[in-house]
Amino acid sequence: MKVTVVGAGAVGASCAEYIAIKDFASEVVILDIKEGFAEGKAMDLMQTASLNGFDTKIVGTTNDYSKTAGSDVCVITSGIPRKPGMTREELIGINAGIVKSVSSSLLEHSPNTIIIVVSNPMDTMAYLVHKTTGLPKNRVIGMGGALDSARFKYRLAEALGAPISDVDGMVIGGHSDKGMVPLIEKATRNSVVVSEFISKERMQQVVEDTKVGGATLTGLLGTSAWYAPGAAVSELVKAIALDSKKMFPCSALLEGEYGLNDLSIGVPCVLGANGIEKIVEISLTDAEKAKLSESAEGVKKTNGLLEL
Ligand code: 2OP
Repeated sequence: MKVTVVGAGAVGASCAEYIAIKDFASEVVILDIKEGFAEGKAMDLMQTASLNGFDTKIVGTTNDYSKTAGSDVCVITSGIPRKPGMTREELIGINAGIVKSVSSSLLEHSPNTIIIVVSNPMDTMAYLVHKTTGLPKNRVIGMGGALDSARFKYRLAEALGAPISDVDGMVIGGHSDKGMVPLIEKATRNSVVVSEFISKERMQQVVEDTKVGGATLTGLLGTSAWYAPGAAVSELVKAIALDSKKMFPCSALLEGEYGLNDLSIGVPCVLGANGIEKIVEISLTDAEKAKLSESAEGVKKTNGLLEL
């Protein structure tokens, strides 16, 4: 499998690193517009190959899309990251133009690629890719829910005093501080719902901490996080590479699913060789449905800022 990662910044380089370490791809191309930056990151990563034990070939290129030709999956991380105090939505002005141009250049050289969108505001950027490329909905995947769910599990394990491997939970809805919907009533510790172990108040705190997980890190780091976003992307790419049919919450274009239309937002998706193999409509409580609808309104409001 050939994978292209656009953007050699912290997130893009982490995507490339985790994809390489998991060693399911033959080649990863990192592309950036900054002279030599992607080449340097690729070379540094290749010098970990003997240490981390992978055979994946990582190459870097300064804006030469011909090097990305024939990619099976392309990951778009390019654009500006958040600064402390910013919302993801504030990035739309700059990132929309970048994502539109990058997706067009990628498709020129890889007409059959699956695109994974990471750039923020991610749900709106995924929608932009749908609208400007006309790609079928199975081939545009927004990465947000897998990251938010990882943060949810981190907070759940913390609240439970349990190892992460004991914990499961999923976040749907928009990848935004206000729009995320951590499905706390469905979260489990080794198949037992967490309400058996922690109070309603503590469950709500887990939800709130999850929703601002990205902003919390941006406050600490001075920029957006990169390790967990990179790891989340690598799991989505691996599921495609291995045709694993694993289910992840991904931002997918909805055409009536969950009673929602004409937007990309985080819902459970089965991922395989064709990208989104299936959007899974799980049963939601009335409260969960209401939160998802409210979240969709927020995403649509941001979509309204696009000049399509
Ligand atoms: C995050 O939440 C970058 O949006 C990504 O960290």
